[in-house]
Amino acid sequence: MSAAIPTPRGLPLVGNGLQVPVEGTHRFFADLAAQHPDGIYRLNLAGRHVVFVHDPDLVAEVCDESRFYKPIDPPLAHVRDFAGDGLFTAREGEEVWGQAHRILLPAFSQRSMKAYFPQMLEIAENLVGAWSGRSEVDVSDDMTRLALDTITLAGFGQQFRSFEQAELHPFLQAMGSALTEAMNRTRQLPMITGLKKRADAAYKSDIAVMQDTVDEVIRARRASGEKANDLLGLMLEAADPLTGARLSDENIRNQVLTFLIAGHETTSGTLSFALHHLMRNPHVLAQAYAEVDRILPGDTVPTYELIMKLDVIPRILDETLRLHSPITAIGLASREATTLGGRYEIPAHQKVAVILKPLHTHPKAWSDPETFDIDRWLPEAKAQHHPHAYKPFGNGERACIGRQFALTEARLALAMLLQRFAIADPAGHRLQIKQTLTIKPDGFRLRVRPRLPHERLSFDEPVAAASETAEVHASGVRLRVAYGSNLGTSEDLAQQIADRARRSGFDVTVQTLDDLAADLPAEGVLTVVTSSYNGKAPDNAQAFDSLDIPAGALDSVRFAVLGNGNTQWATYQAYPRRVFDKLAAAGARPIVDRGETDAAGDFDGMAQAWLNGLWSALAAEFGAASQTETGPRYSVEVLGEDQIRPAVVSTQAHPVMIMSVEELVGDPAGLWDFSREAPRPASRRSPSSFPTASPTPPATTWPSTPRTTPSSSTGRCTPCASPATW
Ligand code: HEM
Ligand SMILES: Cc1cc2nc3c(=O)[nH]c(=O)nc-3n(C[C@H](O)[C@H](O)[C@H](O)COP(=O)(O)O)c2cc1C
Repeated sequence: MSAAIPTPRGLPLVGNGLQVPVEGTHRFFADLAAQHPDGIYRLNLAGRHVVFVHDPDLVAEVCDESRFYKPIDPPLAHVRDFAGDGLFTAREGEEVWGQAHRILLPAFSQRSMKAYFPQMLEIAENLVGAWSGRSEVDVSDDMTRLALDTITLAGFGQQFRSFEQAELHPFLQAMGSALTEAMNRTRQLPMITGLKKRADAAYKSDIAVMQDTVDEVIRARRASGEKANDLLGLMLEAADPLTGARLSDENIRNQVLTFLIAGHETTSGTLSFALHHLMRNPHVLAQAYAEVDRILPGDTVPTYELIMKLDVIPRILDETLRLHSPITAIGLASREATTLGGRYEIPAHQKVAVILKPLHTHPKAWSDPETFDIDRWLPEAKAQHHPHAYKPFGNGERACIGRQFALTEARLALAMLLQRFAIADPAGHRLQIKQTLTIKPDGFRLRVRPRLPHERLSFDEPVAAASETAEVHASGVRLRVAYGSNLGTSEDLAQQIADRARRSGFDVTVQTLDDLAADLPAEGVLTVVTSSYNGKAPDNAQAFDSLDIPAGALDSVRFAVLGNGNTQWATYQAYPRRVFDKLAAAGARPIVDRGETDAAGDFDGMAQAWLNGLWSALAAEFGAASQTETGPRYSVEVLGEDQIRPAVVSTQAHPVMIMSVEELVGDPAGLWDFSREAPRPASRRSPSSFPTASPTPPATTWPSTPRTTPSSSTGRCTPCASPATW
């Protein structure tokens, strides 16, 4: 039976339009969501009827790309005034979207992230350098400088040198004003927009500043004659692999502008909110300090590999994006008339908005949803997540292309800041949010100072892992290495396997999965390395994906499958799983278990571990003269309790409820670095109470309530890992 979609009462003509506040729009929608527990409501925004959904099951339906697409309606229709047919604002069916997407995708592969890393590091070092000379920083401004300089240098080979200037670059000021105007136009009637002549002139002038900046970036590259493999290089040089089309000059300008906008507003907001959450959650801050002290001890210069070993910091970013997605909503529209949740009738081309905060805190999908809890992102917890309850990077084909770029950059910047600085918020900021196309903290200032040597935790040098190398001598055994790969990662690994197999005496063929589909093996070994794209097969594995292999056809074949994936996708490893099942159903017998790598984690380590297993199994099976190299087969690394997840503090700390905090030092500067400055005769009074039904006694005896702490001692409630003394 169909049901009416609830609609809050509005006014004649404007409907609910005037109810949406200019400031605090995100709070307005959060309140509305709370008033609609069924997870759906409709608003009439001055004649534009929009259905809002936040129930994860309804969101799953609207994220089905066969039923819904991304429309370019306000506010994106206004952003299109300056980003044109760039990826972000290209319309459904606009051919140039597919061309640009295919041309640019290789620039976002894992290989490319490694290639951008030196530039990311250079800009992160500029940030660290800027903070070294200051005691107070404006977080959002500096994160904006970092993100803008990073995308400009890595993507276009240009330096904005934002940290050398007191004011934000004119491009940024123009972009901020243009985005604000685009949002104003979204909220006001077109008639009113037409009357605001001065605002219109300023808007046009801001767009001109942005376009001039971008034209200069393109001109400089053309003038240099450089053939770089970055975003700009690809756009200037590469042809669409499918149609052979090249991007027009105007489209290249739109794409550069799009990357400058999409590539920095969001990453800077994420980093700023992450620091906000760390200030509110000292136990998580302590875990993060412990992690950087272990992985980047002393002044270790981060490498890509070290950054990918981080575990706490990525979880901080994941949880930050849950509670504060810089992009607050994604817009969709129905392709045809349809029904949601079995009862809500949706006409064709109905605009549907998914407001992310209510989705990301929906009780159906998240327990204790408002709590900043990074343990939600432990692999075992993550496997239980509702597949459509977390969309900070959007959905499907139109999801964020820059996700890995943003997360790599943010991991590095956060790790370096924590490696070098003690960070405090002595004035206890109240989070104010500024909203344009994205949200970010407004006026968020922190105290910073270099960490002192005694504040860093020290860890024993880890024992270098001995690599296990089984030697295989398989004379003439047929071995196929088939890969499915869009961005070259799986192809690289396939080549690596093939090289080693040739050296080991196998008779090797390397081919795509589609070539394999036309020529299935009757015997020998088949090794498959493949990735997934939104759960689907890569482009060169489509034919293999649709192939039906009769049961028994591969009875004499032994096989192994390595899946390259990314746990950031709910469809993690979807396609390699299907390949494994298909081969097994056709009678092939696995040599080793299906392997997995995670581009959001220790990719190289996971690949190496699986390859070691593969070579050992091949040695046992096919090496007539096989032998395992002498030397240790396993390495043991002794980890202290404090290195083991869920990590440092939570294993040792016991919850304390702070009943009140009375600051007896008037000037918060008085709390500053007492290890350098003699304590003043003042005290901080922090009455606290322990939970009455603690399952285990506290590890350390703490004075019970009320407790008066001399101002020279630490203000933390955990027995260890106090990163700094304030
Ligand atoms: C934490 C940082 C980021 C977040 C949260 C984020 C979020 C998003 C979201 C939600 C969308 C989909 C919007 C929609 O459906 O209308 C999107 C699209 C996009 N993002 Fe990001 N983004 C981030 C960083 C980046 C970076 C660093 C780049 C570029 C280097 C980038 C480039 C893009 C582009 C080009 C699109 C349009 C993709 C298409 O439609 O083909 N983003 N992003
Ligand atoms: C647009 C896009 C979609 C992706 N979808 C998935 C996915 O559904 N599941 C997954 O595990 N990984 C997904 N990934 C991650 C890739 O599979 C991963 O980066 C892999 O290493 C790429 O390998 P390739 O270069 O061989 O194609 C996606 C990556 C991109 C850029």
